[in-house]
Amino acid sequence: MDSIHIHGGVCLQGKVRIQGSKNAALPVLAATILTKGINLIHNCPKIADVYLMLELLRSLGCVVSWEEDGVRVDARNAAPNKMPVSAIKGMRSSLCLLGALLGEAGEVAMEYPGGCVIGERPIDLHLAAFRSLGAEFREENGIIYGNAGKGLMGAHIDMPRSSVGATENTVLAAVSAEGVTVLTGAAREPEVETLCKYLCRCGAQIEGIGTDRLVIVGGRRLSGTEFGVPADRIVAGTYLLACLGTGGAVLLEDAPVSHMEAVVGFACRMGAECQEAQEGLYVQAPGRLLSCDRLTTEIYPGFPTDLQSVALVVMTAAEGKCLIEETIFENRFRILEPLRRMGGKVRLIDAGKAEVEGPVFLNGTETEAWELRGGAALVTAGLMADGETIVKGCDYIDRGYENICRDLRELGARIYRV
Ligand code: EPZ
Repeated sequence: MDSIHIHGGVCLQGKVRIQGSKNAALPVLAATILTKGINLIHNCPKIADVYLMLELLRSLGCVVSWEEDGVRVDARNAAPNKMPVSAIKGMRSSLCLLGALLGEAGEVAMEYPGGCVIGERPIDLHLAAFRSLGAEFREENGIIYGNAGKGLMGAHIDMPRSSVGATENTVLAAVSAEGVTVLTGAAREPEVETLCKYLCRCGAQIEGIGTDRLVIVGGRRLSGTEFGVPADRIVAGTYLLACLGTGGAVLLEDAPVSHMEAVVGFACRMGAECQEAQEGLYVQAPGRLLSCDRLTTEIYPGFPTDLQSVALVVMTAAEGKCLIEETIFENRFRILEPLRRMGGKVRLIDAGKAEVEGPVFLNGTETEAWELRGGAALVTAGLMADGETIVKGCDYIDRGYENICRDLRELGARIYRV
């Protein structure tokens, strides 16, 4: 596995274009199998999880190709019940195929998507929603077999807790169900909104888009369409925070500013100046980062859990003590150990809380990524640290960042991959 080498201490300056959103592109690509038509999806990020999803679509009979301006998915001959069971092997982001396949093919078999280092990642909310629509499931040797019987029927579903994936999966199943589905407690993340907008562009009827109450009128014929995936708010947030941590000034081209309120608000609390510009978001770090006494991750529009580790790294350079509370996943503080090794004054208070005290100057180290966003946090620490930092395991980072080294080099960082 390659490693990323960073010579830190450089203030990030300049501009970088933000890639398309991983977590928006994946459910939209999964939804193409419902259209039985030709789709052109613009601004799909060139990342490992998208490549995997495209392979799965091919295994379902879609003809898929990268065009000049996006991914072309010809789903006219998609045969959802041809999905090899092993195809969805341990890739969480393929989970959103479950709803589309159940609705379209009436049956699905997929390997139980296990947990990962950030948490157990259960899928009980997904299965409960599908059962409300009339599906039945059995599990054998780690494979889930789902069956829609005579076809899914619209239902009233109340999500007991907010879940991005379960909301997306329910929408993907409900558009094929007979009748109307009312989904309350729906996740409001921008990626859910993007999926609903894509489906409506294909001919679906979904009301309440952007709210936690979605009304999906099922049974409508969907046709292929052209659609643009928004820029990735987590990638934009990563580079915004890296700019804060290195004391720089950057322009994040195409950044989805309206989806970044919580992150921009956090940056301003730390003393940054953020300006929405024609081309995107301009960020100027303060001379000294102000203290932020508490940061809590929340469901949208709160501070996103995917940026918690990066924010924690940046806080090592801020005045005073900050309490970080992780309320979404159960194990998202692995960054503390390498950060301590780099000189960070950080400590775990309990499974959901950590404390950072600053300002301290980090020193470079050799370390290894264990998951996508933790890997981005290690790179951010390397940008801030004196000396060289080596981050191994960058395949994890490739799952969500098209080319983190290219992007950061555009901002003046001394970073390369070997
Ligand atoms: C999506 O994961 C994102 N992934 C995650 O991004 C993101 O961190 C997460 O939403 C929260 O915003 C994709 O979109 C591909 P959830 P998802 O269901 O849908 C619990 C990244 O780095 N839960 O909203 O899996 C779950 O354990 C990734 O890009 C259940 O209990 O997240 C968690 O505690 C990481 N039962 C909470 O809900 C279920 O059936 C929120 O999870 C489903 C979820």
